[in-house]
Amino acid sequence: MKLIFLIIFSISLTGSSIAHNHFPITTESKIMIERGKLAYQNNCASCHMVNLSGAEDWKGVDEDGHRKAPPLNGTGHTWHHDDKTLHAIIKYGLARLVNNYEGKMIGFDDKLSDKEIDSVLAYIKSFWSEENYEYQLKLN
Ligand code: HEC
Repeated sequence: MKLIFLIIFSISLTGSSIAHNHFPITTESKIMIERGKLAYQNNCASCHMVNLSGAEDWKGVDEDGHRKAPPLNGTGHTWHHDDKTLHAIIKYGLARLVNNYEGKMIGFDDKLSDKEIDSVLAYIKSFWSEENYEYQLKLN
């Protein structure tokens, strides 16, 4: 787990070179959340589950030693990352962002536009407690 925090930390730093000006992403637009829900169900639910709870026993690894899909509903640590980092993880996948990291989540840059990725993030944030949501907003 320590390694993954280190990895995510280094993405937060390099992520700043990825230009994007739609941050912070809020939960103010119901339409955005609805769009995000659709995109989530079509692209993410297979691993992160329909209710965003992540894979069972997500802190362990799967049979070939890869990380399992973490929860996105606020019970994991997704809300510890700023929008730029989260957007980059969804767009490129950790495996492409981090040297020598073999992740199973493939980036969605060929399937989802930046706007759609933002909508999915709005949908994800709609599951977080008010406290986590406000905390994460300030990171941006
Ligand atoms: C094939 C399974 C799979 C699919 C499909 C998938 N993910 Fe993931 N996701 C993972 C795994 C595994 C990780 C852990 C990092 C890694 O190993 O790449 C992860 C990590 C993440 C993270 C970082 C979470 C954290 O707390 O650090 C976010 C955010 C995320 N996924 C969002 C999404 C979204 C949004 C979609 C759909 C657009 C999606 N994922 C589709 C498997 C998947």
